[in-house]
Amino acid sequence: MITYDPSTVPHAQMHGILLSGVAPRPIAFVASRSAQGDINLAPFSFFNAFASKPPVVAIGPAVSVRSGKVKDTWRNILETGECTISVVTYGMLHQMNLAAAEYPHGTDEFVKAGLTKVPAETVDVPYVGESPFVMECRLVQNIELFREEGGNGNIMLLRVHRIHVKESVLTEGKIDPRKMDLVARMGYHWYARVTPDVCFELPQPGEKLGIGVDALPEPIRTSPILTGNDLGQLASVVTLPTPDPQWREPRSHADSVEHELIAGNPRGALDAAIRNNSASVWMLHRIAHAFLEKGDTVGAWQTLYIAHPEVVPQLLTNAVV
Ligand SMILES: Cc1cc2nc3c(=O)[nH]c(=O)nc-3n(C[C@H](O)[C@H](O)[C@H](O)COP(=O)(O)O)c2cc1C
Repeated sequence: MITYDPSTVPHAQMHGILLSGVAPRPIAFVASRSAQGDINLAPFSFFNAFASKPPVVAIGPAVSVRSGKVKDTWRNILETGECTISVVTYGMLHQMNLAAAEYPHGTDEFVKAGLTKVPAETVDVPYVGESPFVMECRLVQNIELFREEGGNGNIMLLRVHRIHVKESVLTEGKIDPRKMDLVARMGYHWYARVTPDVCFELPQPGEKLGIGVDALPEPIRTSPILTGNDLGQLASVVTLPTPDPQWREPRSHADSVEHELIAGNPRGALDAAIRNNSASVWMLHRIAHAFLEKGDTVGAWQTLYIAHPEVVPQLLTNAVV
């Protein structure tokens, strides 16, 4: 591991390091209005939601380290206390980037970037019509970070008073991340696009208390085949599946473990292993891994019971949760 002490690393380098690790970050397209009435639009990836009752989000407009210049967004929100935040999709990526240019104070980046102004309901600032998700916000608190030691950060806490969502991103009434096509900021000049193929669901355990990796028998916990994700899945069962003798009876005529694994068929691989009576412990771990890649925890446990008949009684006594 390389270790950095922020007090000794030059700021530009620290910026790149920090933002590479704290990623991906959502991008807020923040529209604001100056006291004179000039409209401004700029992207901010120091942005997230921090509460939902009431909804509170925050953005972090920095003071330029090079010039000491403050962002128009920051000045405007301090002056008028209002803004809108529109999330950024891949379809507006280059317009967003254009709006990040340091145009002089008073420039309307909606116009520069060719984006559509839509009037908000509760604040006197328009939002980006092309965005599928928009919030109307009022400033709760501005926190200046470590100015006494030359710090350049700010946190603006913003309470959300309205949210607008395009119907086109809904599936059965819920916002569907596969339809949003959001972009996120990574470190340096990297971005990520949230396409449907990268989205997956994983419900939180909540009150479902898994047995834990510490409760897994040693030969499973220290397996050179099973990954951290495999152990996490095996250990998230609340009670162990009962060893089922049927799993020891081949159901199919599969005869090659390797072919079945390549075909993504762990049950066939297990059948072949049992039929040939040739399976090593590690081969069975590979089959368990294949079950887990398909999210089949029961299949994985039944395979591991076959691999380690000696641990079954110990497991069943220990795992009463
Ligand atoms: C994707 C993206 C994210 C950005 N995030 C931030 C940020 O979180 N904080 C910040 O101070 N500047 C950020 N910037 C730079 C500002 O958008 C840029 O300085 C802009 O000119 C500020 O505009 P303003 O002075 O009109 O507010 C970001 C730029 C891009 C392209």
